Formats: sequence, structure tokens, C-alpha cells
Amino acid sequence: MTLTDKHGRVHDYLRISLTDKCNLRCVYCMPAEGMHFMENDKHLSFDEIEEVVRVAAKLGITRLRLTGGEPLVRPHVEDLVARLHAIPGIEDIALTTNAIFLAPKAELLKKAGITRLNISLDSMNPEKFAEITRGGHVHKVLEGLEAAFRVGFHPIKINTVLMKGFNDEEVDDFLRLSIERDVHVRFIEYMPIGHDGDEWRDRYLSLDYVLERCQALGLTPEPTQSVYGNGPAEYYRLPNARGTFGLIHPVSDHFCERCNRLRLTADGSLKPCLFWQDEFNVRPFIGDEQALIHLFHRSLDVKPESHEMANVLFEENLTHAATLRRMSQIGG
Ligand code: GTP
Ligand code: 5AD
Ligand code: SF4
Repeated sequence: MTLTDKHGRVHDYLRISLTDKCNLRCVYCMPAEGMHFMENDKHLSFDEIEEVVRVAAKLGITRLRLTGGEPLVRPHVEDLVARLHAIPGIEDIALTTNAIFLAPKAELLKKAGITRLNISLDSMNPEKFAEITRGGHVHKVLEGLEAAFRVGFHPIKINTVLMKGFNDEEVDDFLRLSIERDVHVRFIEYMPIGHDGDEWRDRYLSLDYVLERCQALGLTPEPTQSVYGNGPAEYYRLPNARGTFGLIHPVSDHFCERCNRLRLTADGSLKPCLFWQDEFNVRPFIGDEQALIHLFHRSLDVKPESHEMANVLFEENLTHAATLRRMSQIGG
């Protein structure tokens, strides 16, 4: 069985948000006043997540990514990982984390079955990092990154959301990091998800800027297909670089025709698309495999051909309702 939508796209990748809570409050992800977090009893339990994944695996999902909020604030994530790892058909379990809590957990996570790590890092400058995350300590992330190397995670990717006036002047430093270390630094266009457009319009910067910086530095990036992943990044290697840099450009040039993924929110909603509001809650159907299978198919039936983020930039009307959830409530 496969999960194919009306546009012929096969879905084999499920992104599972374990919590909407986060120990940071990145400016692009949460409002300054913070969020009203979900009550703990609203979270899908590990038993429920395991059951949904068991059904998803029968439908052809082979790859999982655990996200948040910050997935490592959920206690005993490694226990869930071990349970998901044991499900027949699941081949890849990746984790997207801000890495603040990673160092002491890296080995446990690897042993439990996490195959790959993506670490969010928008600035390597301590003051800037604290500003973007509203109080975070960058040395904790860097400790997490070193622990990830030490216990042998490979590949390790860095997610850097490019924002005008925040970290655009650090693009050169991130490019240098991709030369010096065996990491894949992915620059991500800032997306208008779940918040009003004004702040976003001021901060948004197309990733053409990264290629302009390569040119200014006299470095010619070579496209490479050598980085394993399930997501939308396109990778390039700079001369003599140990790592690569990647571009994720949902706004200036979307990749929806290649979409292979569904999302499951921490409170149990299947979301066929990051951008749109459509959601299908699994909770009433837990314990009924056929009903869960039906729900997966229903969610794909309404999956649109593409998002309309660029319309937000140009203040054009959207064709239907955009998601009301903030990024931290979806998991990226
Ligand atoms: P791999 O390629 O498997 O390493 O993972 P990934 O890039 O899919 O995962 P990650 O959680 O690191 O996401 C990186 C960025 O891509 C985040 O900003 C996500 O929000 C964004 N992203 C991932 N999937 C989609 C998608 O379907 N649509 C859009 N617009 N953005 C996405
Ligand atoms: N635009 C682009 N990327 C975002 N992320 C969170 N919010 C946004 C946004 N508005 C990124 C985080 C994390 C990943 C899951 O999504 O930096 O690395
Ligand atoms: Fe937390 Fe990630 Fe959102 Fe930053 S982007 S506040 S690290 S969930």
C-alpha cells in the first residue's frame, strides 16, 4: 500500500511533533509574550504515537522525523525512539533539535535508534544568538554539536533561518563552517507561518543572497547530491570543503511538486501541508486500524498542489485558509 495524493506524490515521510513546548523562544517561531502551551494530557502518549506509526508503516511510511517545539523537552524521548525503531518498515528516524539539551542525551539517542540529527543554529555569535532565541546560550548548542560528532552521528545538519538584519552578516561564517567541518549547513528562507506578515516582510531575505556571498568571496559552489536526506534542501560544496551548504527556499522557489511528507502534531492532528489549515485528528480513531488508514487517505485527498507563501509576500489573497498554528506547534 502507498500513500499517494491526487497530484501523484508518494508519501513515505512522517514528521512527528512531540510537544509544542520549547526551552527557547526564537523570534521567528514564537511571539515575544510567549505561547499558551498545550496541556500535558492533550499530547499523544507514546503508546498512541507508536500505534499511529505502526499503521503509517503499513501504508508505506519508512522515514520519520521527530520535532517539537523542542522534542528533547519531552521526558524519555529515547524510550519512544526505541519503540519506533522496532516497528517493521521504519528505516530512518531523524531528530530536529535546538541542541541545548543534546550533549548529555546524544549517546542514549544514538543507541535508541536516532539515525540523523538536524540542529537549529541561527547565529554563532553569543549576543546575536541570545537575541534571536530570546535568552539562549550558544555554547550549549555548540557543546551539543560536539557531542553529536563524538558519538558518531552522520550526517549532521545545521538549520540556519536567514533573516535580514539578524544573521545575514554571518553568512560568510556559516559558509566557512561548511568548509572546516563535516557538517551540512542549510540556509532556510524565513516562512510566514502562523503569524501576521509585517515582521516577516521586513526580515525575509531570498537565498540568492547566499550565492551572492559565495561570489563575493570568490568561491564557486559545486552542486552535490551526496547528502542523504528526505527534505527539500539542495546541496553545494565549496572548494576543498569537508562539509556542504544547502538551500531550502520554500518562498522564492517552492518544492511542493516533490513533497513526500505528512505531519502529525503533538495533539494528534495529521497535517497534509505545513502552510494550510486542514487537519485530521487521529485521537478518536486510536484502536481502530481501518479508521486510521481511512484518515490518512482523507488527509491526502485534500492536500493542495502547493502552498501560497509568496502570495503573503505580495499581499495577494490566498485561495483558502492558512494555518493558524505557529511553527512551534507544527514542528517545521
Ligand atoms: P532532511 O532533509 O531529511 O535532513 O530533513 P528536513 O530538511 O526535511 O528537516 P528539518 O526539520 O531540518 O527542516 C528544515 C527546514 O525545512 C525547516 O525550516 C522546515 O520547516 C522546512 N521544511 C521541511 N519540510 C517542508 C515542507 O514540506 N514545506 C516547507 N515549506 N518547508 C519545509
Ligand atoms: N521559517 C523557516 N524556518 C523556520 N523554523 C522555525 N520557524 C521557521 C520559519 N518561520 C525552522 C527552525 C528549525 C526547523 C524545524 O524549522 O529553525 O530548524
Ligand atoms: Fe524552539 Fe525551534 Fe521554535 Fe526556536 S525554532 S523557539 S528552538 S521550536
